[in-house]
Amino acid sequence: MTKVLLPDSIPAEGEQILTDAGLEIIHGTGRSAKQMMQEGAQAAAVLIGTQIFDAPIMDAMPNLKVIARNGVGYDAVDMPAATARGIKVVNTPFALNDSVAETAVTELLAISKNIFWNTKSIYDGQWNYKKAHPGNDVMGKTIGILGFGRIGHAVAQKLAGFNVKIIAHDPFAQAIENVTMVSREELFANADYVLVHLPAMDSTKHSIGMAEFKAMKSTAYLINMARGIIIVETDLVQALQEHEIAGAALDVFEEEPLPLNNPLLTLNNVLLTPHIASNTVETKRQMAIDAANDIVSILNGEDAISVVNK
Ligand code: DGY
Repeated sequence: MTKVLLPDSIPAEGEQILTDAGLEIIHGTGRSAKQMMQEGAQAAAVLIGTQIFDAPIMDAMPNLKVIARNGVGYDAVDMPAATARGIKVVNTPFALNDSVAETAVTELLAISKNIFWNTKSIYDGQWNYKKAHPGNDVMGKTIGILGFGRIGHAVAQKLAGFNVKIIAHDPFAQAIENVTMVSREELFANADYVLVHLPAMDSTKHSIGMAEFKAMKSTAYLINMARGIIIVETDLVQALQEHEIAGAALDVFEEEPLPLNNPLLTLNNVLLTPHIASNTVETKRQMAIDAANDIVSILNGEDAISVVNK
């Protein structure tokens, strides 16, 4: 029987598609990494989260034909190694746009209204924290979307009712109604909120650092739901400490899980969440369905919905 390795559990609907197609599932949950690799060594497909999937792992799985990413970013997969071995890499870009965009808008509002620190003040018995730390209204502000792909579009659509001006920068994207495309410099200089929705790749790695923070308004917020590696995190910490910018809402970090000695954890002008942007019941279900369907298609020699290497 053809085997599929699931290092992490996925919603039942995804598993059902795999078993209905006659595939044998090898579950990783509850097994040691060594056991999992031994039992999964013969797998023809693997469905992964954000874990690193490099050439040595691929070489330990000689029958592997497809790596399915339960999500959109495939920066943790060694793409040249997969392509060189004839392994197809698929992802689920259509399942999560709205979920990630909802989280971006949630975090934009939460950092503006200082929700986390005000909530904490109740637990700390400091009800009057709010007097020294008023929030900001979003209405009338300029929202800058850096990277105007599917998720960037969904963010613009969700913010349309907020009475804001929306600007975006993306050399590969067209303007849409109510969104003005601007240069990168204009975006950093004019936005009251800079939302990062770029893919992680060599050209975007560490592309936002002190120069960009100095170019931003000192009242502006940075919101990153994409990948931590896009930002020079030490520069961001310094910019937040020195009030070059007003605050940051971050769902992603250079190192995940965020180490407890990371200086971001000492700042009170941040909102930090543990990479949850697409982590909803509905979106996880749809990602599992899309990934499982693509695994079955590829193993059957049929066209898949989203192959990211040709
Ligand atoms: C993605 O899909 O890449 C999200 O960041 C969750 O992994």
